[in-house]
Amino acid sequence: MSAPPAQARRLTVTDIARMHADGERIAMATAYDYPTASLLDEAGLPMILVGDSLGQVMLGYESTVRVTMDEMLHHTKAVVRGARHALIVGDMPFLSYASPDEALASAGRFLREGGVQAVKIEGGVRSARVIEALVRAGIPVQGHIGLTPQAINAIGKVRVMGKSREAARALLADAFAVQEAGAFSVVLELVPAQLAAAITARLRIPTIGIGAGPDCSGQVQVITDVLGLGDFTPRHARRYASLRETILEAARAYKADVEAGAFPGEAETVRMDDSVLAEVLGRSPLDRETVADESGAGIPLDRDL
Ligand code: KIV
Repeated sequence: MSAPPAQARRLTVTDIARMHADGERIAMATAYDYPTASLLDEAGLPMILVGDSLGQVMLGYESTVRVTMDEMLHHTKAVVRGARHALIVGDMPFLSYASPDEALASAGRFLREGGVQAVKIEGGVRSARVIEALVRAGIPVQGHIGLTPQAINAIGKVRVMGKSREAARALLADAFAVQEAGAFSVVLELVPAQLAAAITARLRIPTIGIGAGPDCSGQVQVITDVLGLGDFTPRHARRYASLRETILEAARAYKADVEAGAFPGEAETVRMDDSVLAEVLGRSPLDRETVADESGAGIPLDRDL
């Protein structure tokens, strides 16, 4: 059996470490479905996150707290089928890693059932024990510090973290705790740019920023923000497309065409041999008796209409 083509090989955390060592900036984005994952893969993104932002952007929840492991797995499987090259990170949902044992069970499902190559866990110092247990079991972990959306009920609201002296010190401690626990990378969410740069300069592992300025080792974005699919764009995001407008325009045009009888047109229509239909419907005098005699009984013929 011949080896698969080089470009089809799935990236691993070792490749991410090599990119970081080579000074390459790492572009990561979320995906929640097959078509988006395959497009991100085709575009060459080395890492895709099946984020629990799934809850808000795909499922209509008000926060990530409602997202379940089963919902994550359902979407993860589609992403893994869609992207054959990128390293896929599964976001461990709220309360799926409260203890090392629970974390092992949840991460095990992500790897075995979902097919991901790594999992992401929110929390620095408070999650170090869990990260360590997973890494010891051979499960690559991406940390996530700064704003941790699963703690929104404790934090109160979405805000930049680490602005005060105490908060900045705590964030540095979180970053080191995640690295020392064995994480292969760490997401810094809503962190002042200077602090994110200082953390990045002090860590061996890559930092992946979202709202953390330009000096992180890489960036991660929620794909619906990048594509302009929502009606709100966070300050840290840049719209690279306006899919909301494109989809609205297309949906309105489709509706108008259906209502006007302009869709489908000849190009979208399949036709059959008229003589075959004439036979079936008893249109030809020769066929009338045959059709009436056979199982056409009960089906109104043209002459009966
Ligand atoms: O769920 C998510 O999309 C995330 C990113 C914001 C990093 O965790």
